Amino acid sequence: MEPDESPVVNEARQLAEASLREAGDLAALERWHAAELGRSGRITLLLRRIGGLPADERPVFGASVNRAKTWLEAAHGARLEELREAALAAQLADQAIDVTLPGTRPPRGRLHPSTLILRRVYAVFADMGFQVYQSRDVETDAFNFELLNIPRHHPARDMQDTFYIDDDRLLRTHTSPGQIHAMRQYAPEPIRIILPGMCYRREQITARSEIQFHQVEGLAVDRGITMADLKGTIESFARRMFGAQRAVRFRASYFPFTEPSAEVDVECFLCDGRGCRVCKHTGWLEIMGCGMVHPVVLTNGGYDPAVFSGFAFGGGIERTAMQQRGITDIRHFWANDLRFLAQSQ
Ligand code: DAH
Repeated sequence: MEPDESPVVNEARQLAEASLREAGDLAALERWHAAELGRSGRITLLLRRIGGLPADERPVFGASVNRAKTWLEAAHGARLEELREAALAAQLADQAIDVTLPGTRPPRGRLHPSTLILRRVYAVFADMGFQVYQSRDVETDAFNFELLNIPRHHPARDMQDTFYIDDDRLLRTHTSPGQIHAMRQYAPEPIRIILPGMCYRREQITARSEIQFHQVEGLAVDRGITMADLKGTIESFARRMFGAQRAVRFRASYFPFTEPSAEVDVECFLCDGRGCRVCKHTGWLEIMGCGMVHPVVLTNGGYDPAVFSGFAFGGGIERTAMQQRGITDIRHFWANDLRFLAQSQ
């Protein structure tokens, strides 16, 4: 006790100090503050007593109470800080995160069914020495038609309704124009490429036809290439793609850019050729067109048809994907419905 401290004040301060140590949480501390320093608190009551004292005692007593008050306010502040920290620590411990718990898995993206088929096609042709050649989606009339031996007003143009951008430019209706680009780039070197890509046709959208679809084109140009090379290549492809036992047949057909031309059917892989709804009870599924590159096309590509020959083929991807996976509506491919896309493996 300081010598000039009033004993009454001193006692009050000690009591207050003792009960402060017992205030174990923030609520108790608040109650303590009301009981000691609040409007009718122990120390406040002492302050009120000053006025009733004889004048000569007031300064000493008053100073003493004020010192006690200041001291207790400071002690209260320190205790408040302590309890707040303890409360925060308790809260943190309570809400601690276990970083070793497994997280929630975000949904995984899948490859588009068309991409999956394309990749299988690339792999089969890569084994036969074919490289992938990427060509443009926007073409000129010359590349899409004229240079492929389809002049204006040729009836074959009716087979491919076209999205024109202006008088001369259009969205390619097939991947065949890539043949001319590739030949002009590589002539007179031999060529063995496949040309995958999106094609566009102005058609009525139905369950069976879309205005956009993928094709894969193939082209081989060299000295001495024959129809036997074409048949061998396509048969190997079809067996790797659809099964080693699958029969393949070539039907004579017509395309302006090949001569002779054929269409390729593979034995229906859904009914093993017995006939079903998908193959329309024929036992065969059409997979592509093909033929020996027309001399006019070889010339347009920069090869002398007296020295070089070649074969070409081309077909759609989505129809095959539909048959293989039992997809009944081609519109699913571009509808971007995740429920459809998530099914592919
Ligand atoms: N371009 C043809 C189409 O879109 C498919 C085709 C047929 C491509 C015969 C070829 C071919 O390269 O030789 O229908």
